[in-house]
Amino acid sequence: MGSDRRHTSRRRLLTSLLLGALAVSLVVAPGAFADALTPESGGSPNADSIDTLYKIVLAVAAVIFVGVEGALIYSLVKFRARKGRVAAQIHGNTNLEIGWTVGAAVILVILATVTFIKLDSIKNPIDSRPGGLNTASGAQFASVDQPTPPKGKALNIDVNGQQYLWRFTYPDKDTNAQNNPYSYEEMVVPINTTVTLDIRSQDVAHSWWIPKLGGKFDAIPGYTNKTWFQARKLGIYRGQCAELCGRGHANMFASVRVVTVPQYQAWIVAQTERITAANKAAAADRDKYAVPAPTASQPSTGTSTTPAPSTTTPAAPNTDAGKAVFASAGCGACHTLKAAGSTAKIGPDLDQALSGKDAAFINTSIVNPNAEIAPGFTKGVMPPNFGQTLSKTQLKDLVDFLVAATKK
Ligand code: CUA
Repeated sequence: MGSDRRHTSRRRLLTSLLLGALAVSLVVAPGAFADALTPESGGSPNADSIDTLYKIVLAVAAVIFVGVEGALIYSLVKFRARKGRVAAQIHGNTNLEIGWTVGAAVILVILATVTFIKLDSIKNPIDSRPGGLNTASGAQFASVDQPTPPKGKALNIDVNGQQYLWRFTYPDKDTNAQNNPYSYEEMVVPINTTVTLDIRSQDVAHSWWIPKLGGKFDAIPGYTNKTWFQARKLGIYRGQCAELCGRGHANMFASVRVVTVPQYQAWIVAQTERITAANKAAAADRDKYAVPAPTASQPSTGTSTTPAPSTTTPAAPNTDAGKAVFASAGCGACHTLKAAGSTAKIGPDLDQALSGKDAAFINTSIVNPNAEIAPGFTKGVMPPNFGQTLSKTQLKDLVDFLVAATKK
């Protein structure tokens, strides 16, 4: 009995010690402790302004909190119930009531004024600093209604949220937006340069947030949000999509790599070359695997009573492999297709849209989804890079599977 009880109390002590150690290590961990009370700062002037504003409000709130709680505790102790004491009965005190009403109003007016003064430096971009990218060329502007720095020049980058990554499109020298350099997941920017961002989404709501570079901004389909930053230190600034956007939300990282101006210029050149090379390779692959278009003598509508001689693939199409590609490429996440058991409604219902269509049409719909848009759907939603991400065999299997699955 006695030893049993001692055992229990010792175990309890050990448990509380372990819990205590865990709490201490969590609080002391630099990551958990960094800016525990106030927003992160140090990356960009607007982030610093947000931090300063937060600290001013926190200081005012702390003074009020200490005053109110102090008066409360003082009264609790001083006027606590004692034998033989009769509480005074007080009915209203006009001066006191006017005092705390006016006092509270004055505090709110002060906070509102300070906020509006600070808001300017949070919202409005400032000029690039000496040593920043010379953004004198007008082609740097992709955005029309973006608030601009006083001297009017900034590097405007398009930030596009998609399940589950960010795509960054950089300005170039011409007005054709189709040939601009872009990157995924990591944005590269020059130091001391004001960078304005056009934030959008092409599917669901995401949220752009690099804490050290300023506030959160929603990425909403069909709407463009604007913000800016100006990084003054080289390095990598990390963030995360801050809006639950689906299964992969936790993996939707974002980072901004700040480099010197010459490094940025060299990177843009190299990135453009990489994109050109990849596009060329993809085009060559597409040519190698071109599906022959149906000839005029064989109407694809199939209304002729005499069956057209089969000129398609001699071997029976491997529809099982195509079904597997349909699943692994994630087609079912957006499209309804009975043969694959998918019921998603983001893209066209393939049982209808591809009904009776030939291999050439289906192939084009996959590798160049913007070529023909089904009624009621918008351009630019389906990823345009399946021609690159799928191998030739995968693409052929997928097309064969879809032809078979949607045959009339
Ligand atoms: Cu995108 Cu969460």
